[in-house]
Amino acid sequence: AGQNIVYYAETDSTNIRAKLLGEEGAPHGTLAVADMQSAGKGRRGRTWASSPGRSIYMSLLLKPDISPVKAPMLTLVAACAVAKALKTCTGLEIQIKWPNDIVVNGKKLAGILTEMSTEIDYINYVVTGIGINVNIEQFPEEIKDTATSLFLETGNTVKRALVIAEIMRFYEIYYAKFMETKDLSLLQEEYNRLLVNRNREVRILGVKETYKAYALGINPSGELLVRRQDGTQEVIYAGEVSVRGV
Ligand code: BTN
Repeated sequence: AGQNIVYYAETDSTNIRAKLLGEEGAPHGTLAVADMQSAGKGRRGRTWASSPGRSIYMSLLLKPDISPVKAPMLTLVAACAVAKALKTCTGLEIQIKWPNDIVVNGKKLAGILTEMSTEIDYINYVVTGIGINVNIEQFPEEIKDTATSLFLETGNTVKRALVIAEIMRFYEIYYAKFMETKDLSLLQEEYNRLLVNRNREVRILGVKETYKAYALGINPSGELLVRRQDGTQEVIYAGEVSVRGV
């Protein structure tokens, strides 16, 4: 992946670009990278701010031969690759907050947004968008307690090209493992090692109830297994709840 790179000095959103590239028949593994986005998208309809030339905004176009129901697992493959690459590049204790936030010292460092175009039984394409706060020196008041950057954590400027190359290197390894079984069984251990919530008490904010549970880690489908206080185990599906530290 990342052999075919399309670079934009400025664009609306690399996810939008990668989707268009997908429509136009660009090959699997094409990477859209921008120095700045004017309409960056976050999850749950939020916007993703842009800091020109200081961050990484990129989207990977994938055309995997898997069932559409498995496509969300690719987000966890990406989370693993991003966490591992950032750890290797900086030596920081980078972790994953299930399902796909990348955090360090309790603050968010990177986010991942996966979008896809599917038919009932096959995938046209999947786009995995990755936003990483690299050399940002200051965050706006509203997010300065919850967001951080590689610069703020290490005190050094980090070369974006090196980070991108390292992410692609890990992504290739992890994607191959994912395709071998078409689920996360070969990545489960690696992912769980990186999981910040693991073996910790978490608060599950469900639709009907909120409860405390003990996070055990993901299963091969990428769902979070938790143990409730009465000892019963439960599977938490992405999107269904948000998991907060207690
Ligand atoms: C989140 O809400 O945590 C996900 C943020 C994803 C942001 C990235 S930046 C590159 C790509 N293009 C977008 O418009 N969004 C993703």
